Amino acid sequence: MTIYHLSMECYPVAKVGGLADVVGALPKYQNKIEGIDAKVVMPWYNKSFFYDHEFEVVFDGWIHQSFNMYQVKVMKEKHNSLGFELYLVMIPGLLDRNDVYGYWDESQQFLAFQHGVLHWLSAMQIRPDILHCHDYHTGLVPFMIENCPDFSYLKGVKTIGTIHNGEYQGQMKWEMSNYIPRFDGWKWGLLDWDGYINPLACLLKCCTAFTTVSGGYLEELYHDFKGLESLVRAEHQKAHGIINGIDTEVWNPKTDKMLTYNFNLKNAVTGKLKNKKALCEVYGLNPDLPLFGFIGRFATEKGADLLPELVQRGIQQMHGAFNIIILGSGNSHLEGELQNLNYTFTNFALDLGYKEYLSHQIYASSDFLLMPSRVEPCGLNQMYAMRYGTIPLVRYIGGLKDTVEDISTGGCGINFAEASVDAIIHNMDRAMHIYSQKDLMKTLVEANMKKDFSWEISAQKYIDLYQN
Ligand code: ADP
Ligand code: GLC
Repeated sequence: MTIYHLSMECYPVAKVGGLADVVGALPKYQNKIEGIDAKVVMPWYNKSFFYDHEFEVVFDGWIHQSFNMYQVKVMKEKHNSLGFELYLVMIPGLLDRNDVYGYWDESQQFLAFQHGVLHWLSAMQIRPDILHCHDYHTGLVPFMIENCPDFSYLKGVKTIGTIHNGEYQGQMKWEMSNYIPRFDGWKWGLLDWDGYINPLACLLKCCTAFTTVSGGYLEELYHDFKGLESLVRAEHQKAHGIINGIDTEVWNPKTDKMLTYNFNLKNAVTGKLKNKKALCEVYGLNPDLPLFGFIGRFATEKGADLLPELVQRGIQQMHGAFNIIILGSGNSHLEGELQNLNYTFTNFALDLGYKEYLSHQIYASSDFLLMPSRVEPCGLNQMYAMRYGTIPLVRYIGGLKDTVEDISTGGCGINFAEASVDAIIHNMDRAMHIYSQKDLMKTLVEANMKKDFSWEISAQKYIDLYQN
């Protein structure tokens, strides 16, 4: 069975968040299953994030978008070193930028990517068994293969859509329909939602089946999906919640080259402490205090807006009895507020920006990882934390609900219901109580490390879904 995963991100070539981690790991684990050939197709970026490319051109053609012609080059990674075949689509003028998101013409970029991929597959007469579309950026593919005469070779190919984040739907004005390859005009209703072209809505309408990255998130979408609630209810027979896994080869405290000290289950407590001491020294923190970490995008979805008050009030209210380290970037107002607090509070360390190595060190060194998310379709941070013996302190929603159980009910994490500073401080207090009991702390560190979040089970669930 041949599967083509279509995505904007894929670790280690281009990563903005968890989408990259999933697309860089799922196909690798799928390929370990007999009879499966999973590949990844993504745009070409000028900047290589963590990886030196060596590519060969496997296709060179042209597409027509509105009044312009664009060249499409498809490049295949030469050494097949990632555990799957990787194809990059370059379209000079559109898909040859440094960054993944944030350009003024990104709707056109995403349309061109989908158009370019389908043109290449049709022209080369490559007919996969499954086209697996990740997020709204690739959401028009199922529509296009059924309704654009140029891609009639692909008609009938089964499609899976995975919703990594339903907050982003890619709505665009109808004028943009000029950039969609020629399609059967009677079918315009499939593209439309509330007067806009909505690629995520179109994906749900046209795919063979769709998945969310946790069962908990799927339940939430039936009631709160930014206007698509009635659609997801209508299409519920196509819906499947499959929890993400983590790449345990990349995220392994025994071998992780980004850590200052490697450790395993046997020397977890001392190994973590060594990492913590090294990190605290860099940031001028006291290693004897419990260390809370936060890693992520500064977005309201992640509850990042709560952080400034949490740092200020938490440290004052608890008389400086803990340290907190924050790694992230995003909302510039929040960045500024946190930077000011960083000058005032010695218990608080801040690193603004995207730093892969530092994220690994924080997972390994922290005693607790904070995730006060308002929306969390799956969340990978809590699973990385647990793998590195760090106790997750998370809001009880989406994928967090499915992966972290509170110690009061026999689990080895901390859950809270409300996205509020009071709720977080109350639960940090619970965490510090645990921290003061060395034996309990050791038990929890080890219990978290023993948890199995590897991709094997979920990779098989996707295969079962394809086969159905
Ligand atoms: P999302 O994709 O919504 O941002 P996830 O929890 O699924 O959330 O995944 C986030 C991924 O991005 C994790 O691998 C996390 O370690 C990484 N990450 C987020 N922010 C940063 C940062 N500032 N520096 C390094 N890694 C980061
Ligand atoms: C999205 C979600 C996150 C999830 C990730 C990978 O970015 O916000 O919760 O873990 O996709 O599926």
